[in-house]
Amino acid sequence: MNVLFIGDIVGKAGRLCVKEHLPKLKQRYQPDLIIANGENAAHGKGITKRIYQELLDQGIDMITMGNHTFSKNDIYSFIHEADRMVRPANMEPLDYGISTRILEVNGVQVAISNLCGEIFMNHVVESPFVSMEKILNEVKADLHFVDLHGETTSEKVAFTYHFAKRVHAVVGTHTHIQTADERIVYGTAAISDLGMCGAYTSVLGRDVDEVITRFTSDVKTRYTVAEGAAIFCGLFVRFDETTKRATQVERIQIRPEHIEE
Ligand SMILES: [Fe+2]
Ligand SMILES: [Fe+2]
Repeated sequence: MNVLFIGDIVGKAGRLCVKEHLPKLKQRYQPDLIIANGENAAHGKGITKRIYQELLDQGIDMITMGNHTFSKNDIYSFIHEADRMVRPANMEPLDYGISTRILEVNGVQVAISNLCGEIFMNHVVESPFVSMEKILNEVKADLHFVDLHGETTSEKVAFTYHFAKRVHAVVGTHTHIQTADERIVYGTAAISDLGMCGAYTSVLGRDVDEVITRFTSDVKTRYTVAEGAAIFCGLFVRFDETTKRATQVERIQIRPEHIEE
């Protein structure tokens, strides 16, 4: 089974970048399943029904979320019917949405779970280690993939070792900066952070000047998403369904052709 994981899609620049690259990536990797993080898809924070549908229409099969799941009020109007979305299991509010969904892919039951790391994160109500144990007690599937949405590499790497063999992929999201540590841990595909699909000249997808102003003064700024040519980040994984082991991991990072430097 071929699986394509796509990092946090940030705003319009990120969405356009996915639209541009996905057809070529589909041709090259022949994915049976495409999973993307959509927590920043609507103007950098959250997601709307229109954008959720737009991402599915491009062939994304499952959208994982993060700390910005509920940043747009629109989410409350459709999350109950969004059967291609998972939200962090251990982050408040807990009353809306589902944290693990199972898709059947070529006759194989694939579970996809979404969790938040607890280091430097707000509204996390339970350790992702504890939440994941509970999920594994309840969910039975042939393959199980996890988007661990967290700030620190240590937490994501430790989680990977702890759950290796019991889950079949652990991909980190949230930092928007891709890590170069893609590997296979006891058969489990892993990367600490997928990186983002968002404006290349930006601070994590956000307007450079605005973020500098925030760091250097007391001026309150509005959240401004950066525009312009974007970087695409993700991970391709090939799984052997019989052994349930990842057999190939390939990090994907496509920078814009023309960068103003
Ligand atoms: Fe993000
Ligand atoms: Fe995040």
